[in-house]
Amino acid sequence: MAFPKIYIVGVGPGDPELLTVKADSLIRSADLILYTDSLIPPEIVAIARPEATVLRAADKNLEELLAVMIEAAKAGKRVVRLHDGDPCFYGAIQEQMVGLLAAGLEFEVVPGVSAYQLAAARLRVELTVPERVQTIILSRLTGRTVVPESEELASLAAHRSSLCLYLSAKHVVQMQARLLLHYPPQTPVAICYRLGWVDERILLVPLAELAVRSEAAGFVRSTLYVVSPALMAETVPTEYGYPERLAFCEESGRSRLYSPGHDRLFKP
Ligand SMILES: C[S@@+](CC[C@H](N)C(=O)[O-])C[C@H]1O[C@@H](n2cnc3c(N)ncnc32)[C@H](O)[C@@H]1O
Repeated sequence: MAFPKIYIVGVGPGDPELLTVKADSLIRSADLILYTDSLIPPEIVAIARPEATVLRAADKNLEELLAVMIEAAKAGKRVVRLHDGDPCFYGAIQEQMVGLLAAGLEFEVVPGVSAYQLAAARLRVELTVPERVQTIILSRLTGRTVVPESEELASLAAHRSSLCLYLSAKHVVQMQARLLLHYPPQTPVAICYRLGWVDERILLVPLAELAVRSEAAGFVRSTLYVVSPALMAETVPTEYGYPERLAFCEESGRSRLYSPGHDRLFKP
């Protein structure tokens, strides 16, 4: 007998309205849901059927999680494992997938909106502004998981790209020092706490004040840092409090794609 497929589902940063249609329908039809309550708000789990079993994952190790998932799937249940944001990075899904394969179970990964995408939306910026920045780097500082030396923050900062740092709130002093080796002190940094949650907060500060402002706000987890020249755009809401503004699109910052002088496949 074929067992039902297990779903590994990205649920976005927290706002239930940012669930994909597929994530929404999987949560609503699940028999068993596993989720991490520090990263996924109750509003998302609340859409599950009242008769569904909902388990917190944070107090279980991988072997325990796999055992629960495998047993339920083998009993014919629909198992949905929720991950914050998009599961393709910092989700520890690789070992889950290996475990499910070893148990002979089918699984499917469903992508979600990552925290950095909601950060850019809230800040009303394009993280790739022509002739200023064309690369987005997603990374983190070394914590319990060690970052390979070749990806050391100072070497990533040398690109002066739009740099989005996850899982790093406990290392802000070190982060600021490494970034200052390459970005000018006035480079804006967005400190984004619990995006999409009811207590969301965003601070936009010069790089030179990153550590002091982040620590004063008491953000020790669920915080994303975005460092980017793009954050100087005039479209950033003034409520985030960064004084300098640049009129990007009046000069070099305009995209060639929609420029009147640029031939396109569908607009020769
Ligand atoms: C385990 S990682 C998973 C990231 C996830 N894969 C994603 O795409 O957003 C958790 C880290 O992501 C960031 N993060 C996740 N959700 C967030 C949110 N709602 N607001 C701000 N940062 C968030 C924080 O840096 C947090 O420490």
